[in-house]
Amino acid sequence: MSSDPFDFAATVRAIPDYPKKGIVFRDITTLLGDARAFRRTIDELVQPWAGSKIDKVAGIEARGFIVGGAVAHQLSAGFVPIRKKGKLPYETVRVSYALEYGIDEIEMHVDAVEPGERVILVDDLIATGGTAEGAIKLLRGKGAIVEAACFIIDLPVLGGADKLRAMDVPVRTLISFDGH
Ligand code: PRP
Ligand code: MG
Repeated sequence: MSSDPFDFAATVRAIPDYPKKGIVFRDITTLLGDARAFRRTIDELVQPWAGSKIDKVAGIEARGFIVGGAVAHQLSAGFVPIRKKGKLPYETVRVSYALEYGIDEIEMHVDAVEPGERVILVDDLIATGGTAEGAIKLLRGKGAIVEAACFIIDLPVLGGADKLRAMDVPVRTLISFDGH
């Protein structure tokens, strides 16, 4: 892995007023499509756990699947999909989480993790942290040890990373954007 600094933020496209006026959407498809940026992103996200025993990586639908699958491969770990409700075929555990307006639910298969397994949670972005908090509850509810949560992008003004740290989950992010 190269130790040169890399400007990850420059590879993320900003789309003003999407999906609605006043929101700047952070589009990671430009990062994902840049072979060097995608490789560096995964390398740097997993760097603290290189060589340590991680049993599973849990990724949150949908964009967390792209990042989480690559992270799991890199760490030689299994992959656990955490999905929006109604998508998983087997018996699930489910948790509600707050959206800007209303609530939604995410699910995980009941047998996705074993008690005591060491898991890293991965998503593309953390904003309010509601989605990741729900995912941590699902994992801990089945006895997994959530070693850390990793995100490419943090929107610190929304407080999500601090919310996870208050749950005793170390948080790793590569890019911070002011505002949202
Ligand atoms: C976005 C993002 C995170 C979540 C972060 O996903 O990919 O999963 O929101 O928000 P929070 O920290 O406030 O919970 P979204 O639900 O838009 O769906 P997608 O990944 O399926 O596109
Ligand atoms: Mg998402």
